[in-house]
Amino acid sequence: MHLLRIKILLLLTIGTSILFSCQNTEPTQKELTTKKEKTTLKDAYEEHFLIGTTLSKQHINQEIPKAAALIPREFNAITAENMMKWMNIHPAKDSFDFSMSDKFVALGQQQEMFMVGHTLVWHSQLADYMNEMTDKEALEAHLKNHIETIVGRYKGKIDGWDVVNEALNEDGTLRESIFLKVLGEEYLEKIFRWAAAADPSAELYYNDYNIEQPAKRKGCIEMIKKLQAKGVKIDGVGIQGHWSLLGASIKDIEDSILEFAALGLKVDFTELDITVLPNPWDLKGAEVSQNFEGSPFMNPYPEGLPDSVQVKLANRYQSLFELFVKHKDKINRVTFWGVHDGHSWLNNWPIKDRTNYPLLFDREFNPKPAYFEVLKIGQAIDPPVN
Ligand code: XIL
Repeated sequence: MHLLRIKILLLLTIGTSILFSCQNTEPTQKELTTKKEKTTLKDAYEEHFLIGTTLSKQHINQEIPKAAALIPREFNAITAENMMKWMNIHPAKDSFDFSMSDKFVALGQQQEMFMVGHTLVWHSQLADYMNEMTDKEALEAHLKNHIETIVGRYKGKIDGWDVVNEALNEDGTLRESIFLKVLGEEYLEKIFRWAAAADPSAELYYNDYNIEQPAKRKGCIEMIKKLQAKGVKIDGVGIQGHWSLLGASIKDIEDSILEFAALGLKVDFTELDITVLPNPWDLKGAEVSQNFEGSPFMNPYPEGLPDSVQVKLANRYQSLFELFVKHKDKINRVTFWGVHDGHSWLNNWPIKDRTNYPLLFDREFNPKPAYFEVLKIGQAIDPPVN
């Protein structure tokens, strides 16, 4: 009798608590913990777009402990900075070198990163022997093999490919690369088809700089429309985003997001960095040349970035990320071209040995004011539940 009463009591208690938990609209403990303040870039933007970085050999080999800790904490997408470029991955006509790209993919898998292969077809950083490939049939077969071999090797692992990089001139016409010269315009259609066949699940992108600028953008849209009309699979467009404190304008960037998205494409910002140094092309009558090397005018902050410029950089990143968030439904990924200022290619381009500050982390891997602006904007999209 006593045992029966206990059992009834127990059943009543369980029943009431089930009923109570069903009616309870308060967030559960689990929800509360998942909705707490997000303290890293990748978490702050998690629901909206990926936050990526590019990895060099040093990062992949985990040679810099601070970088090795920072990368998986702040980023959830990685792009191969140089190791998948033709000269590195296919250095001789009959041989590939996958040593670094295999390591890149292994690290990405281990850290559950979205992985971008950069880049299958590009006029730059080609292997020297490519300049001698002037026979149409031979080049076509070589290119097909290049794409099938690389994309096939990483099938189901690399999530997206920059199938072609920088195929356009500034006026929107097609660049006279070896591919255009020898194979004609059809090369574009072919490379996308070969890539799609080699890994049907990988996303395929067209990637370029200055395609937010009206003339080049127009040419890019025409080129993509032609490919789409032929039934070619193209999933996204990568706007590189090598910008300065003053340009590109927010209007041009916004127009590009809208126009590219209207083609049914995912819009990615694939190589974002903001130079704070003078640009030789801004000098009337000047050209990029060795003359600028070592000039204090061209390298004004060798000892550190003045606060006033630091603020300008933070404001510039703020405007950009406010725009990205406004169009978060159209943007898939924002990748920075480098992990920290010391790593940026902009320390050596277009003038060698300068001290540039284009990224969100400084030379000691500390977050800069620009980082906190970007983080704050991400945190404000989904504020935590109190
Ligand atoms: C750059 C790398 O960051 C450098 O290390 C290398 O020396 C030159 O290329 N646009 C691109 C990238 O698509 O591949 C370039 O990367 C930067 C410009």
